Amino acid sequence: MQMSSFPQPLYADISSALVFWYNANKRDLPWRDTKDPYLIWLSEVILQQTRVDQGLSYYNKFAERFPFVEDLANADEDEVLKLWQGLGYYSRARNLHATARNITDNYNGVFPDNYKTILSLKGVGEYTAAAISSFSFNIPVATVDGNVYRVLSRLFVIQEPIDTGRGKKVFSQLAQEILDKKSPAMHNQAMMEFGALQCVPVSPKCSECPLSNVCEAYKLNLVSSFPVKQGKVTIKNRYFNYFDIRYGEYTYINKRGVNDIWKNLYELPLIETSSAQSMESILQDNSFSEMFPENSINNIVHKQSIKHILSHRVIYTEFYLVEVTDDDFLKRNFLKINISDIDNYAISRLVHKYLENCEK
Ligand code: ADE
Ligand code: SF4
Repeated sequence: MQMSSFPQPLYADISSALVFWYNANKRDLPWRDTKDPYLIWLSEVILQQTRVDQGLSYYNKFAERFPFVEDLANADEDEVLKLWQGLGYYSRARNLHATARNITDNYNGVFPDNYKTILSLKGVGEYTAAAISSFSFNIPVATVDGNVYRVLSRLFVIQEPIDTGRGKKVFSQLAQEILDKKSPAMHNQAMMEFGALQCVPVSPKCSECPLSNVCEAYKLNLVSSFPVKQGKVTIKNRYFNYFDIRYGEYTYINKRGVNDIWKNLYELPLIETSSAQSMESILQDNSFSEMFPENSINNIVHKQSIKHILSHRVIYTEFYLVEVTDDDFLKRNFLKINISDIDNYAISRLVHKYLENCEK
């Protein structure tokens, strides 16, 4: 048994506050008036596709045309797909039909009444199995949907991203701990409805929230930071053109700012471009003529190309050695140092790689 991270009485208080709120604020929805697992299953599969207001008419059509699971099983697939039209994800309609036939053929038309068997049905995932189990049979298993992630992450300032395998485990476990095991149907409905109507994604109604006194995110003024999402990790390419500028024994360096990689480290004068540049094209670049006024250059040589890999970034880098005729224009913007002193400065590993291979 894992230790619970929060005191149980708080959980009970939260659950009863949610149920109290639910009874005063819930929407009147037809699938809430039934314990029939077939109808609840139907409503949940439809609501996976669509918002409640649009799903309502589909639910009513299906429930009227197919009041019992055998009616759905006996229908032609064409008719089922036709009724489903507009909802999209037609594989869900096919799974619905296949599962209705499975229940009719293999379960005597009686919807299974335990979580494991319900979960084994085609097209039924953990959320739907929990919804059917708890709403129909009062089995104590927590429903964890997007609403639940949001509410729990805010109440307990859970930093774990909701879109990772580990995050899903953390939230499922907490949802299960907080579940009122004596009244799982009511608790689950209340928690999800609270997320759908009160603790909404944007501008939740915190100032009139019955949980604001226990909500950690609200107390810390951090509501809009939750839930945390990791999002997709994308690799970004960057293109750096560095200039090792020489005037006698001097070179010029620059301290990086704090809003990018290599905060506060030193580097050579840099022109970042949005794509790879040849020497010819960098010489034509506006930033280049800003950095080097006319007639300021004696000689320019391309020295090295380095592909530098950081987490989530690849930096394609060109290094140029530039001999200048004068350094007044450089002293304004860069730190002038003796080339032999460069090791006294904290320099990015990328520029270090270049310096290792170049004459000082
Ligand atoms: N969305 C998914 N399931 C729902 C339910 N049972 N009630 C309201 N909205 C829902
Ligand atoms: Fe959600 Fe705001 Fe209530 Fe916290 S105080 S539970 S963020 S509505």
